[in-house]
Amino acid sequence: MMRPLIPSLAFATVLITGTAPAWSADRAVMEGEQLFSYHGCVNCHGASGSDPTSKLVPKIGGLEAGEIMEKSRKILKGETTSEEAKLMKSAIAYSQSCDAPPTDAELQKIATWLATQ
Ligand code: HEC
Repeated sequence: MMRPLIPSLAFATVLITGTAPAWSADRAVMEGEQLFSYHGCVNCHGASGSDPTSKLVPKIGGLEAGEIMEKSRKILKGETTSEEAKLMKSAIAYSQSCDAPPTDAELQKIATWLATQ
């Protein structure tokens, strides 16, 4: 009997994104905090964006929402050339393998939530 495909895919998704499998989540109804986890931001920037996992990762909780939005969009569009920014861009690209990248509307929700942290 063949091994079921779905559980192994689910496991891969958890490994890559550190979050719940994509199909169990309805992105449209997610708020900023959930999207921050869903898109894997929390894996590097830490809880509330204020507990980075490495010295290379900036603290972003409590920044102004417009600044978060602008900077994260630049990084995700590849307009920032630092090695650190490339790291973030490729991490987000990787977690897209089973799903789509954060939309502007989702980034806005994340930024609005982070600004209150
Ligand atoms: C692989 C780790 C990683 C992931 C995942 C990640 N980031 Fe980052 N992030 C970084 C690093 C490293 C930088 C610093 C980039 C630089 O210095 O050019 C950064 C920078 C930023 C900045 C700019 C902060 C500043 O003050 O310059 C924002 C905003 C940001 N990230 C938001 C996000 C959001 C939103 C997500 C999820 C969609 C995310 N990040 C996912 C590692 C990550």
